[in-house]
Amino acid sequence: MGHTKVMAGYIAEALGADTYEIVPVEPYPEGYDDCCDQALAEQRDDVRPALAGDLPDVSGYDTVFLGCPIWWGSEPMVVRTFLDAVDLSGKTVVPFTTHGGSGLGNVPANLQARVPGATFVDGKAVAGTAVDGAHDEVVDWVTSLDLA
Ligand SMILES: Cc1cc2nc3c(=O)[nH]c(=O)nc-3n(C[C@H](O)[C@H](O)[C@H](O)COP(=O)(O)O)c2cc1C
Repeated sequence: MGHTKVMAGYIAEALGADTYEIVPVEPYPEGYDDCCDQALAEQRDDVRPALAGDLPDVSGYDTVFLGCPIWWGSEPMVVRTFLDAVDLSGKTVVPFTTHGGSGLGNVPANLQARVPGATFVDGKAVAGTAVDGAHDEVVDWVTSLDLA
């Protein structure tokens, strides 16, 4: 738990960026199997779990790094709630994930389908179990990006 937040921290530190955490109102189950079952059911039923807290005002940002764990090959459905609610069109969007072997999975394709009008930059995936040792790798990736 928290691998993606660690990776987000590396990115934010490297860029001096602001952060926003996508948090569902109803926490996901703590047990791995229960969480997997719920995540799969949400995907199957195209659920949009409610977001906790206020939405971010992204109007002043040109570039948004959007990160998530891979769940069943894709983004958790609460990320789709976020994408439905927050307009990222016209921005540069940089996906990143932590995962257990699927890399970026379907996330880049799904984001591109859901955020028409954004410019996408190739994303970065780090295995969740490797994230603690991936600081320099992530910072090297961030600083190599040609962001406008
Ligand atoms: C519900 C669920 C589904 C998952 N599905 C996948 C998957 O399809 N492919 C994969 O590589 N890892 C999968 N994982 C592993 C997570 O992507 C990985 O542990 C990730 O680093 C978790 O990030 P977090 O600590 O920020 O939650 C899954 C984990 C959970 C809890």
